[in-house]
Amino acid sequence: MISHEFDLKPFNTFGLTAKAAHFATFSSTEELSTILQQLPNEKLLVLGGGSNILFTEDYNGLVIKNEIKGFEILEENAQRAVVKAGAGEEWNEFVISCIRKGFAGVENLSLIPGSVGASPMQNIGAYGVEIKDVFQELEAYHIETGEIHTFDAAACEFGYRESVFKGKLRGQYIILSVTFLLKKNPNLNTSYGAIEFELKKMGISKPTIKDISKAVIAIRNSKLPNPKIIGNAGSFFKNPVVSEATVAEIKKTFPDIPNFPAENGMRKLPAGWLIEQAGWKGKTYNQYGVHKFQSLVLVNYGGATGTEIFRLSSRIIKDLEEKFGVTLEREVNII
Ligand code: FAD
Ligand code: EPU
Repeated sequence: MISHEFDLKPFNTFGLTAKAAHFATFSSTEELSTILQQLPNEKLLVLGGGSNILFTEDYNGLVIKNEIKGFEILEENAQRAVVKAGAGEEWNEFVISCIRKGFAGVENLSLIPGSVGASPMQNIGAYGVEIKDVFQELEAYHIETGEIHTFDAAACEFGYRESVFKGKLRGQYIILSVTFLLKKNPNLNTSYGAIEFELKKMGISKPTIKDISKAVIAIRNSKLPNPKIIGNAGSFFKNPVVSEATVAEIKKTFPDIPNFPAENGMRKLPAGWLIEQAGWKGKTYNQYGVHKFQSLVLVNYGGATGTEIFRLSSRIIKDLEEKFGVTLEREVNII
Protein backbone atom coordinates (compact mmCIF):
# COMPACT_ATOMS: atom_id res chain seq x y z
CA MET A 1 0.00 0.00 0.00
CA ILE A 2 1.30 3.45 -0.88
CA SER A 3 0.88 6.22 1.72
CA HIS A 4 1.05 9.91 0.89
CA GLU A 5 2.44 12.92 2.77
CA PHE A 6 4.10 10.40 5.05
CA ASP A 7 6.06 11.46 8.17
CA LEU A 8 9.63 10.09 8.03
CA LYS A 9 10.59 11.11 11.58
CA PRO A 10 10.38 7.54 12.98
CA PHE A 11 12.40 6.30 9.99
CA ASN A 12 15.61 8.32 10.41
CA THR A 13 17.92 8.04 13.41
CA PHE A 14 18.57 11.81 13.41
CA GLY A 15 14.88 12.04 14.39
CA LEU A 16 14.30 14.80 11.83
CA THR A 17 10.90 15.81 10.64
CA ALA A 18 10.50 15.36 6.88
CA LYS A 19 7.58 14.27 4.72
CA ALA A 20 7.71 11.83 1.84
CA ALA A 21 5.25 12.67 -0.94
CA HIS A 22 4.76 8.88 -1.29
CA PHE A 23 5.91 6.04 0.96
CA ALA A 24 5.69 2.25 0.78
CA THR A 25 7.40 -0.79 2.24
CA PHE A 26 8.28 -3.94 0.32
CA SER A 27 9.17 -7.42 1.57
CA SER A 28 9.76 -9.16 -1.77
CA THR A 29 11.04 -8.35 -5.25
CA GLU A 30 7.49 -8.78 -6.59
CA GLU A 31 6.15 -6.15 -4.16
CA LEU A 32 9.01 -3.87 -5.13
CA SER A 33 8.27 -4.06 -8.85
CA THR A 34 4.53 -3.59 -8.26
CA ILE A 35 5.21 -0.36 -6.33
CA LEU A 36 7.59 0.92 -9.00
CA GLN A 37 5.02 0.15 -11.73
CA GLN A 38 2.38 2.10 -9.81
CA LEU A 39 4.54 5.24 -9.56
CA PRO A 40 7.01 4.90 -12.45
CA ASN A 41 8.08 8.51 -12.86
CA GLU A 42 8.75 9.54 -9.28
CA LYS A 43 12.24 10.24 -8.01
CA LEU A 44 13.17 7.41 -5.70
CA LEU A 45 14.83 6.96 -2.31
CA VAL A 46 15.47 3.51 -0.84
CA LEU A 47 15.50 3.46 2.91
CA GLY A 48 16.92 0.85 5.25
CA GLY A 49 17.16 1.87 8.89
CA GLY A 50 17.65 5.57 8.07
CA SER A 51 20.85 5.62 10.15
CA ASN A 52 23.07 7.29 7.56
CA ILE A 53 20.76 9.97 6.22
CA LEU A 54 20.20 13.67 6.91
CA PHE A 55 16.89 15.02 5.64
CA THR A 56 17.28 18.73 4.94
CA GLU A 57 13.85 19.01 3.30
CA ASP A 58 10.70 17.05 2.51
CA TYR A 59 11.20 14.30 -0.06
CA ASN A 60 9.21 15.20 -3.14
CA GLY A 61 9.11 11.68 -4.53
CA LEU A 62 8.71 8.03 -3.54
CA VAL A 63 10.45 6.62 -0.47
CA ILE A 64 10.49 2.82 -0.27
CA LYS A 65 11.57 0.95 2.82
CA ASN A 66 13.27 -2.37 2.37
CA GLU A 67 11.82 -5.12 4.55
CA ILE A 68 13.06 -8.19 2.68
CA LYS A 69 13.92 -10.73 5.39
CA GLY A 70 15.95 -13.94 5.38
CA PHE A 71 18.95 -15.75 6.89
CA GLU A 72 19.89 -18.74 4.78
CA ILE A 73 22.96 -20.94 5.22
CA LEU A 74 23.92 -21.80 1.64
CA GLU A 75 26.95 -23.90 2.53
CA GLU A 76 28.65 -25.04 5.72
CA ASN A 77 31.65 -27.23 6.47
CA ALA A 78 34.27 -27.46 9.25
CA GLN A 79 36.10 -24.37 7.98
CA ARG A 80 33.48 -21.99 6.69
CA ALA A 81 29.87 -20.97 6.26
CA VAL A 82 28.28 -19.09 3.39
CA VAL A 83 25.24 -17.12 4.55
CA LYS A 84 22.74 -15.17 2.46
CA ALA A 85 20.80 -12.47 4.30
CA GLY A 86 17.81 -10.44 3.16
CA ALA A 87 18.57 -6.75 2.64
CA GLY A 88 15.83 -5.72 5.08
CA GLU A 89 17.30 -7.70 7.99
CA GLU A 90 18.67 -5.51 10.78
CA TRP A 91 22.47 -5.58 10.56
CA ASN A 92 23.01 -6.14 14.28
CA GLU A 93 20.44 -8.98 14.37
CA PHE A 94 22.40 -10.60 11.53
CA VAL A 95 25.63 -10.24 13.54
CA ILE A 96 23.98 -11.79 16.62
CA SER A 97 22.72 -14.75 14.54
CA CYS A 98 26.23 -15.34 13.14
CA ILE A 99 27.82 -15.22 16.60
CA ARG A 100 25.21 -17.66 17.98
CA LYS A 101 26.03 -20.12 15.21
CA GLY A 102 29.78 -19.71 15.72
CA PHE A 103 30.29 -18.02 12.34
CA ALA A 104 33.18 -15.57 12.65
CA GLY A 105 33.96 -12.42 10.70
CA VAL A 106 31.33 -9.84 11.62
CA GLU A 107 31.81 -9.70 15.42
CA ASN A 108 33.89 -6.49 15.16
CA LEU A 109 30.91 -4.92 13.36
CA SER A 110 28.57 -5.48 16.32
CA LEU A 111 25.98 -2.82 17.14
CA ILE A 112 26.25 -0.86 13.89
CA PRO A 113 22.71 0.36 13.25
CA GLY A 114 20.90 -0.09 9.95
CA SER A 115 20.08 -2.84 7.50
CA VAL A 116 22.04 -5.62 5.81
CA GLY A 117 21.15 -4.08 2.42
CA ALA A 118 22.83 -0.78 3.21
CA SER A 119 26.00 -2.42 4.54
CA PRO A 120 27.73 -2.67 1.13
CA MET A 121 26.64 0.85 0.14
CA GLN A 122 29.42 2.46 2.15
CA ASN A 123 31.34 -0.74 2.96
CA ILE A 124 30.56 -0.35 6.67
CA GLY A 125 33.53 -0.69 8.94
CA ALA A 126 34.59 -0.60 12.56
CA TYR A 127 37.39 -1.80 14.81
CA GLY A 128 39.68 -3.08 12.06
CA VAL A 129 37.09 -4.87 9.89
CA GLU A 130 35.08 -3.77 6.85
CA ILE A 131 32.30 -5.71 5.19
CA LYS A 132 34.50 -6.22 2.13
CA ASP A 133 36.52 -8.65 4.32
CA VAL A 134 33.55 -11.06 4.61
CA PHE A 135 31.64 -10.20 1.45
CA GLN A 136 30.93 -12.81 -1.21
CA GLU A 137 28.26 -11.29 -3.46
CA LEU A 138 25.01 -9.36 -3.56
CA GLU A 139 21.87 -9.36 -5.64
CA ALA A 140 20.45 -6.05 -6.74
CA TYR A 141 17.38 -4.92 -8.67
CA HIS A 142 18.19 -2.76 -11.66
CA ILE A 143 15.60 0.00 -11.45
CA GLU A 144 15.53 0.84 -15.17
CA THR A 145 15.07 -2.71 -16.50
CA GLY A 146 13.67 -4.61 -13.50
CA GLU A 147 16.44 -7.22 -13.95
CA ILE A 148 18.27 -8.75 -11.00
CA HIS A 149 22.06 -8.48 -11.28
CA THR A 150 24.71 -10.19 -9.15
CA PHE A 151 27.81 -8.29 -8.01
CA ASP A 152 30.96 -9.93 -6.63
CA ALA A 153 33.42 -8.00 -4.45
CA ALA A 154 35.46 -6.69 -7.40
CA ALA A 155 32.31 -5.37 -9.11
CA CYS A 156 31.33 -3.54 -5.90
CA GLU A 157 34.60 -1.52 -6.03
CA PHE A 158 34.77 -1.27 -2.25
CA GLY A 159 36.93 1.43 -0.66
CA TYR A 160 36.97 3.27 2.64
CA ARG A 161 33.27 4.10 3.15
CA GLU A 162 32.80 3.72 -0.62
CA SER A 163 31.33 1.36 -3.18
CA VAL A 164 30.25 1.48 -6.81
CA PHE A 165 26.67 2.06 -5.57
CA LYS A 166 27.72 5.40 -4.03
CA GLY A 167 29.79 6.19 -7.12
CA LYS A 168 29.11 5.53 -10.79
CA LEU A 169 26.04 3.34 -10.19
CA ARG A 170 24.46 5.72 -7.68
CA GLY A 171 20.66 5.56 -7.76
CA GLN A 172 20.55 2.71 -10.28
CA TYR A 173 20.16 -0.36 -8.04
CA ILE A 174 18.20 -1.60 -5.04
CA ILE A 175 20.10 -4.21 -3.05
CA LEU A 176 17.93 -7.26 -2.33
CA SER A 177 20.29 -9.66 -0.53
CA VAL A 178 23.91 -9.95 0.55
CA THR A 179 25.92 -13.19 0.79
CA PHE A 180 28.78 -13.42 3.29
CA LEU A 181 31.67 -15.84 3.60
CA LEU A 182 32.27 -16.53 7.29
CA LYS A 183 34.83 -18.65 9.10
CA LYS A 184 34.38 -21.49 11.58
CA ASN A 185 38.06 -21.32 12.71
CA PRO A 186 38.39 -17.62 13.22
CA ASN A 187 41.45 -15.41 12.94
CA LEU A 188 40.28 -13.01 15.61
CA ASN A 189 40.92 -9.37 14.83
CA THR A 190 41.97 -7.60 18.03
CA SER A 191 44.49 -5.30 16.37
CA TYR A 192 42.43 -2.17 17.08
CA GLY A 193 44.05 -1.02 20.35
CA ALA A 194 40.86 -0.28 22.22
CA ILE A 195 39.68 -3.91 21.83
CA GLU A 196 42.77 -5.35 23.53
CA PHE A 197 42.43 -2.81 26.31
CA GLU A 198 38.74 -3.65 26.78
CA LEU A 199 39.40 -7.43 26.79
CA LYS A 200 42.07 -6.94 29.45
CA LYS A 201 39.58 -4.92 31.51
CA MET A 202 37.12 -7.82 31.14
CA GLY A 203 39.85 -10.23 32.36
CA ILE A 204 39.83 -12.21 29.09
CA SER A 205 43.09 -13.53 27.62
CA LYS A 206 41.72 -16.09 25.12
CA PRO A 207 38.74 -14.32 23.55
CA THR A 208 35.91 -15.98 21.65
CA ILE A 209 33.97 -14.17 18.92
CA LYS A 210 31.31 -13.42 21.56
CA ASP A 211 33.96 -11.78 23.78
CA ILE A 212 35.14 -9.60 20.89
CA SER A 213 31.55 -8.59 20.23
CA LYS A 214 31.08 -7.71 23.93
CA ALA A 215 34.29 -5.65 23.94
CA VAL A 216 33.23 -3.76 20.80
CA ILE A 217 29.77 -3.11 22.29
CA ALA A 218 31.33 -1.77 25.50
CA ILE A 219 33.64 0.60 23.57
CA ARG A 220 30.81 1.81 21.32
CA ASN A 221 28.46 2.39 24.26
CA SER A 222 31.14 4.44 26.04
CA LYS A 223 31.37 7.07 23.30
CA LEU A 224 28.69 6.81 20.64
CA PRO A 225 25.28 8.29 21.44
CA ASN A 226 22.33 5.89 21.29
CA PRO A 227 20.08 7.24 18.50
CA LYS A 228 17.01 6.13 20.47
CA ILE A 229 17.98 8.79 23.04
CA ILE A 230 19.97 11.40 21.06
CA GLY A 231 19.37 11.77 17.31
CA ASN A 232 22.49 11.12 15.21
CA ALA A 233 23.80 9.18 12.21
CA GLY A 234 27.17 8.04 13.57
CA SER A 235 30.26 9.68 12.07
CA PHE A 236 29.08 12.71 10.12
CA PHE A 237 32.38 13.00 8.23
CA LYS A 238 34.88 10.53 6.80
CA ASN A 239 38.39 10.46 8.21
CA PRO A 240 40.42 12.41 5.62
CA VAL A 241 43.07 10.54 3.65
CA VAL A 242 46.03 12.81 2.88
CA SER A 243 49.60 12.63 1.57
CA GLU A 244 52.72 12.23 3.75
CA ALA A 245 53.64 15.79 2.73
CA THR A 246 50.37 17.16 4.14
CA VAL A 247 50.98 15.34 7.45
CA ALA A 248 54.51 16.78 7.60
CA GLU A 249 53.13 20.28 6.97
CA ILE A 250 50.47 19.96 9.73
CA LYS A 251 53.09 18.55 12.12
CA LYS A 252 54.98 21.84 11.99
CA THR A 253 52.14 23.39 14.02
CA PHE A 254 50.58 20.24 15.57
CA PRO A 255 53.49 17.85 16.22
CA ASP A 256 51.25 15.33 18.06
CA ILE A 257 48.69 14.82 15.30
CA PRO A 258 47.78 11.10 15.19
CA ASN A 259 47.91 9.53 11.71
CA PHE A 260 47.50 6.02 10.38
CA PRO A 261 48.51 4.17 7.21
CA ALA A 262 45.97 4.22 4.36
CA GLU A 263 45.93 2.83 0.81
CA ASN A 264 48.65 3.74 -1.72
CA GLY A 265 51.11 5.20 0.78
CA MET A 266 48.62 7.82 1.95
CA ARG A 267 47.86 8.61 5.63
CA LYS A 268 44.49 8.73 7.41
CA LEU A 269 43.86 11.51 9.91
CA PRO A 270 41.25 11.08 12.68
CA ALA A 271 38.67 13.76 11.88
CA GLY A 272 37.41 13.50 15.49
CA TRP A 273 40.84 14.65 16.71
CA LEU A 274 40.95 17.56 14.23
CA ILE A 275 37.44 18.69 15.19
CA GLU A 276 38.27 18.43 18.89
CA GLN A 277 41.54 20.38 18.51
CA ALA A 278 39.65 23.09 16.66
CA GLY A 279 37.45 23.52 19.74
CA TRP A 280 34.17 22.08 18.47
CA LYS A 281 33.81 19.08 20.81
CA GLY A 282 30.60 19.28 22.87
CA LYS A 283 29.52 22.62 21.32
CA THR A 284 25.75 22.96 21.61
CA TYR A 285 23.41 25.33 19.78
CA ASN A 286 19.95 25.04 21.30
CA GLN A 287 18.73 21.65 20.04
CA TYR A 288 21.79 20.43 18.13
CA GLY A 289 25.54 20.30 18.27
CA VAL A 290 28.75 18.26 18.31
CA HIS A 291 28.66 15.22 20.61
CA LYS A 292 30.58 15.66 23.84
CA PHE A 293 32.37 12.27 23.74
CA GLN A 294 32.90 11.85 19.96
CA SER A 295 33.43 15.00 17.90
CA LEU A 296 32.85 13.16 14.64
CA VAL A 297 29.18 12.75 15.58
CA LEU A 298 26.74 15.63 15.10
CA VAL A 299 23.60 15.34 17.22
CA ASN A 300 19.98 16.43 17.33
CA TYR A 301 18.86 16.81 20.94
CA GLY A 302 15.27 17.12 19.67
CA GLY A 303 13.59 19.68 17.46
CA ALA A 304 16.55 20.68 15.27
CA THR A 305 16.17 20.83 11.50
CA GLY A 306 18.36 19.02 8.99
CA THR A 307 19.35 22.39 7.54
CA GLU A 308 20.68 23.56 10.92
CA ILE A 309 22.79 20.41 11.23
CA PHE A 310 23.98 20.71 7.63
CA ARG A 311 25.02 24.34 8.20
CA LEU A 312 26.91 23.32 11.34
CA SER A 313 28.77 20.71 9.27
CA SER A 314 29.65 23.43 6.71
CA ARG A 315 31.04 25.69 9.47
CA ILE A 316 33.19 22.83 10.77
CA ILE A 317 34.49 22.03 7.26
CA LYS A 318 35.44 25.69 6.67
CA ASP A 319 37.11 26.06 10.07
CA LEU A 320 39.21 22.92 9.60
CA GLU A 321 40.27 24.08 6.14
CA GLU A 322 41.54 27.29 7.72
CA LYS A 323 43.22 25.64 10.71
CA PHE A 324 44.72 22.49 9.15
CA GLY A 325 44.42 22.92 5.38
CA VAL A 326 42.36 19.70 5.28
CA THR A 327 38.88 19.41 3.72
CA LEU A 328 36.49 17.00 5.41
CA GLU A 329 34.03 15.04 3.30
CA ARG A 330 30.57 14.25 4.69
CA GLU A 331 29.93 10.56 5.26
CA VAL A 332 26.20 10.92 5.86
CA ASN A 333 23.87 10.97 2.82
CA ILE A 334 22.36 14.44 2.50
CA ILE A 335 18.81 14.47 1.14
P1 FAD B 1 20.00 4.17 5.37
O1 FAD B 1 20.42 5.32 6.23
O2 FAD B 1 18.57 3.84 5.33
O3 FAD B 1 20.52 4.44 3.89
C1 FAD B 1 21.86 4.82 3.64
C2 FAD B 1 22.08 4.93 2.13
O4 FAD B 1 21.99 3.65 1.53
C3 FAD B 1 21.03 5.78 1.42
O5 FAD B 1 21.65 6.40 0.33
C4 FAD B 1 20.01 4.76 0.93
O6 FAD B 1 19.28 5.20 -0.18
C5 FAD B 1 20.92 3.60 0.59
N1 FAD B 1 20.28 2.29 0.76
C6 FAD B 1 19.80 1.76 1.90
N2 FAD B 1 19.36 0.50 1.68
C7 FAD B 1 19.55 0.25 0.37
C8 FAD B 1 19.29 -0.87 -0.48
N3 FAD B 1 18.74 -1.99 -0.03
N4 FAD B 1 19.61 -0.77 -1.79
C9 FAD B 1 20.17 0.37 -2.28
N5 FAD B 1 20.43 1.45 -1.53
C10 FAD B 1 20.14 1.39 -0.22
N6 FAD B 1 28.70 3.06 9.87
C11 FAD B 1 29.87 2.41 9.78
O7 FAD B 1 30.35 2.09 8.69
N7 FAD B 1 30.58 2.07 10.90
C12 FAD B 1 30.15 2.37 12.15
O8 FAD B 1 30.81 2.06 13.14
C13 FAD B 1 28.91 3.07 12.27
N8 FAD B 1 28.43 3.42 13.49
C14 FAD B 1 27.26 4.09 13.60
C15 FAD B 1 26.80 4.43 14.87
C16 FAD B 1 25.60 5.10 15.03
C17 FAD B 1 25.12 5.44 16.41
C18 FAD B 1 24.83 5.43 13.88
C19 FAD B 1 23.50 6.13 14.04
C20 FAD B 1 25.29 5.10 12.60
C21 FAD B 1 26.52 4.45 12.45
N9 FAD B 1 27.04 4.11 11.18
C22 FAD B 1 28.20 3.40 11.09
C23 FAD B 1 26.32 4.51 9.96
C24 FAD B 1 25.18 3.54 9.55
O9 FAD B 1 24.84 2.69 10.59
C25 FAD B 1 25.58 2.68 8.34
O10 FAD B 1 25.92 3.51 7.25
C26 FAD B 1 24.47 1.74 7.91
O11 FAD B 1 24.94 0.82 6.96
C27 FAD B 1 23.26 2.47 7.35
O12 FAD B 1 22.24 1.52 7.18
P2 FAD B 1 20.73 1.95 6.99
O13 FAD B 1 19.97 0.73 6.64
O14 FAD B 1 20.27 2.72 8.16
O15 FAD B 1 20.87 2.89 5.73
N1 EPU C 1 39.42 11.28 18.62
C1 EPU C 1 39.64 12.46 19.29
N2 EPU C 1 38.54 13.21 19.63
C2 EPU C 1 37.28 12.82 19.34
C3 EPU C 1 37.07 11.60 18.63
C4 EPU C 1 38.18 10.85 18.28
O1 EPU C 1 40.76 12.85 19.57
O2 EPU C 1 36.35 13.54 19.70
C5 EPU C 1 40.60 10.44 18.29
C6 EPU C 1 40.63 9.21 19.19
O3 EPU C 1 41.28 9.48 20.39
C7 EPU C 1 41.39 8.22 18.35
C8 EPU C 1 41.00 8.60 16.94
O4 EPU C 1 40.47 9.92 16.99
O5 EPU C 1 42.77 8.37 18.48
C9 EPU C 1 39.99 7.63 16.33
O6 EPU C 1 38.81 7.62 17.12
P1 EPU C 1 37.80 6.37 17.15
O7 EPU C 1 38.54 5.12 17.43
O8 EPU C 1 36.67 6.73 18.03
O9 EPU C 1 37.32 6.22 15.68
P2 EPU C 1 36.91 7.29 14.57
O10 EPU C 1 38.03 7.37 13.58
O11 EPU C 1 36.46 8.56 15.18
C10 EPU C 1 35.93 5.49 13.00
C11 EPU C 1 34.71 5.28 12.19
C12 EPU C 1 33.57 4.80 13.05
C13 EPU C 1 33.97 3.49 13.69
C14 EPU C 1 35.23 3.72 14.52
C15 EPU C 1 35.78 2.43 15.10
C16 EPU C 1 34.83 6.76 10.30
C17 EPU C 1 34.32 7.98 9.63
N3 EPU C 1 34.34 6.49 11.48
O12 EPU C 1 35.66 6.55 13.89
O13 EPU C 1 32.43 4.58 12.22
O14 EPU C 1 32.95 2.97 14.51
O15 EPU C 1 36.26 4.27 13.67
O16 EPU C 1 36.40 1.68 14.11
O17 EPU C 1 35.68 6.07 9.73
C18 EPU C 1 30.49 5.64 11.31
O18 EPU C 1 30.99 5.42 10.20
O19 EPU C 1 29.37 6.16 11.46
C19 EPU C 1 31.25 5.25 12.50
C20 EPU C 1 30.81 5.49 13.74
